[in-house]
Amino acid sequence: MTITHPNFGAIDDKRVIIFDTTLRDGEQSPGFSMNLDEKLRMAETLAELGVDVLEAGFPIASTGDYESVRAIAEGIKGPVICGLARSGREDILRAAEAIRPAARRRIHTFISTSPLHMKYKLRMEPEAVLEAVTASVRLARQHTDDVEWSAEDGSRTEMEFLIRCVEAAIKAGATTINIPDTVGYAVPEDMARIFTTVMNRVDGADRVILSTHCHNDLGLAVANTLAAVRAGARQIECTINGIGERAGNAALEEVVMAIRTRPDAAPYTHNIETTRILRTSKLLATITGFDVQPNKAIVGRNAFAHESGIHQDGVLKNAATYEIMTPESVGWQKTSLVMGKHSGRAAFRDKLKSLGYGELGDNALQIAFQRFKDLADRKKIVYDDDIVALVDDEVMRDHQRIKFVDLELWAGSKAKPRALLELEIDGAAHKFEALGDGPIDATFNAIHGIFPHTATLRLFSVGAVTEGTDAQARCTVRLEEDGKLVDGQGADTDTIVAAARAYIHALNKLITKRARTEPAALSA
Ligand code: KIV
Ligand code: ZN
Repeated sequence: MTITHPNFGAIDDKRVIIFDTTLRDGEQSPGFSMNLDEKLRMAETLAELGVDVLEAGFPIASTGDYESVRAIAEGIKGPVICGLARSGREDILRAAEAIRPAARRRIHTFISTSPLHMKYKLRMEPEAVLEAVTASVRLARQHTDDVEWSAEDGSRTEMEFLIRCVEAAIKAGATTINIPDTVGYAVPEDMARIFTTVMNRVDGADRVILSTHCHNDLGLAVANTLAAVRAGARQIECTINGIGERAGNAALEEVVMAIRTRPDAAPYTHNIETTRILRTSKLLATITGFDVQPNKAIVGRNAFAHESGIHQDGVLKNAATYEIMTPESVGWQKTSLVMGKHSGRAAFRDKLKSLGYGELGDNALQIAFQRFKDLADRKKIVYDDDIVALVDDEVMRDHQRIKFVDLELWAGSKAKPRALLELEIDGAAHKFEALGDGPIDATFNAIHGIFPHTATLRLFSVGAVTEGTDAQARCTVRLEEDGKLVDGQGADTDTIVAAARAYIHALNKLITKRARTEPAALSA
């Protein structure tokens, strides 16, 4: 059986559409906010990964959200660009305006349908909700042929009412129907039952794409997603590294690799270029400052590491003894010695291409190349991971108001640590000397001296990018101001410089966030 969809044409029954919501459900969770440049960079990388639909944000939430959805709609080619909207007129018009420049676009509108949400959150009677479903989908259809409707808290909705809502949405013109497990409450049997019932009982269900959107509160998001697909869902809503509200959403990399690795249990096709998964995961970690845990499936640094002698012996004889997929299939490469201090610009550019970077602007390339040369001078061996850390670090800073220039330090077991810091703010150089309880404290005090602010340091962590005592340090700094949290990252062979870069990165994010109004609560 094939379905004809306004943006995808004829879709055969085995094809699943990958709907990425990293920049919407993922971005709205605490600590994961991104600025416009970061969202654009992430969107470009998601397009290269091959996602079919890219949910770029929630345009009514703030001017910043509107502008980033609009910029993604203008600049990112490939995926269908989607904007989220509650059922109200203003929400839908704002989403329509934001996605307008995209060649292929979608409005995703939603309203809660569970008894609990209707009574306490919406304070609406079911009949009024039903009317809102019809009105919202009709209005959205006036602006685009591709309209997705979601039953928020769908997995806790009474089945008879869910059927009436889905029928109303289809009648009003929805082309995708999403039934989310909003609070991560379902088990796979629930998902199978819900989707089978909708498929069998809803008039018109065979003419639309059914979609699944699972949260991970019980750690079941991926299992629930696969159960929904087996029961008829053909769109999977997911995020890179599983980020999202509370415990997150189904992880794109896990769902996709489950389908690829188990064609017997999940005989479906998709458009994801799996070798780009790791790159995408790492970029998100760099931008947000949150590394995945070491044992995270597919993208954790231990996901393909074999520690015990028995396992190592088995893998050497035949990798399939302990590896159900190859590390290369998701983008892991053998650690390689890359280049030395004699490598030129052209070789550096080629290396970037092989690591999955598109063309960097001339300015970013020049600065990144200079930093690579400095690194090669200081570090015996430069690995691929060093280059990734360095380039991500540089690209992230390309458009920022506060830039690191130089740091000199005096420290030791006796002297009071002292830092002389130079920053550039909006193009003008500023210097400040400060003392501190340690070299990092002195450096952060110097930042305060140049750029006074009231943010509080909430977290400071240091990790190594590669192995060895000459490894680059990667620091994360979390700042809080008026309840707003931001994370910054910095990498350098000098840990204190990495810390300064991370602090400055966080401050830049704070400046962006100050300009943003608070996102509206996600209620319909
Ligand atoms: O979890 C949820 O229900 C959502 C909807 C807006 C689709 O994110
Ligand atoms: Zn969600």
